[in-house]
Amino acid sequence: MARDKVTVRTLRRMEERGEKITMLTAYDYPMARAVDDAGIDVILVGDSLGMVVLGHPTTLPVTMDDMVHHCKAVARGVLRALLVADLPFMSYQVSREDALRNAGRLVKESGAEAVKLEGGREILGSVEALVAAGIPVMGHLGLTPQAYHRMGGYRVQARTAEEADRLLKDAVALERAGIFALVLEGIPAAVARGVTRELAVPTIGIGAGPFCDGQVLVTHDMLGLQTDLSPKFVKRYAQARQLFIEAMRCFRDEVRSGAFPGPEHSYDLDHPAASTSG
Ligand code: KIV
Repeated sequence: MARDKVTVRTLRRMEERGEKITMLTAYDYPMARAVDDAGIDVILVGDSLGMVVLGHPTTLPVTMDDMVHHCKAVARGVLRALLVADLPFMSYQVSREDALRNAGRLVKESGAEAVKLEGGREILGSVEALVAAGIPVMGHLGLTPQAYHRMGGYRVQARTAEEADRLLKDAVALERAGIFALVLEGIPAAVARGVTRELAVPTIGIGAGPFCDGQVLVTHDMLGLQTDLSPKFVKRYAQARQLFIEAMRCFRDEVRSGAFPGPEHSYDLDHPAASTSG
């Protein structure tokens, strides 16, 4: 595995060599350090932040200030991975000026090395403007969580031939506009395979089957830290929430019984002042 700093060019080379790309989310410093130490290629400060960290029911309430705050913390913990940050809902849909200003904040103030936008041909102007300004753009098609209300909930997309054709055309248009990679979320595996074959830039799937050039999961999902939602495509590699609760219960019980803190966690137990102060 390459240990050098990952850039957008690294991902393209990995795709050309048939090496799978890995991407996970992080929203704070300790998680960023862990994801980076694990050798994951891309760290995404996703707007899933709203759901898994801030407790919102969707990603829609996430603000630019939320993204800047969390992206700064993540950037302090990343040495090797490529750091991508999401542009949140309504930070780029109104105009390309908004897209430029807000993506600029993520790169200039927060340490992001690329931004991710949801949508197809309707956002091409913004994608082109960002790329022209020197900001690498990752696309995101299929189940796009910012379109929650339009989709009528989180549903698998592109199940009809017409929708699959529209998605492929969007993907090709995004590639022409200059994206360096494309997230495909919540679509049939066969549709993702068709898009992956058609594009030169790498595709990174989540709920899009095994044929993409890489895979992404929300870290809190794959660690079992977040258990409210359990989509079919999430594989839980750990039961972290359970582990945390067991450790916290142990702490509670040991404090109650007096077993903690013991001598090894205390300073100067035999200090002369201890015997006189009672
Ligand atoms: O916000 C996010 O975490 C994402 C990933 C699911 C790709 O967009």
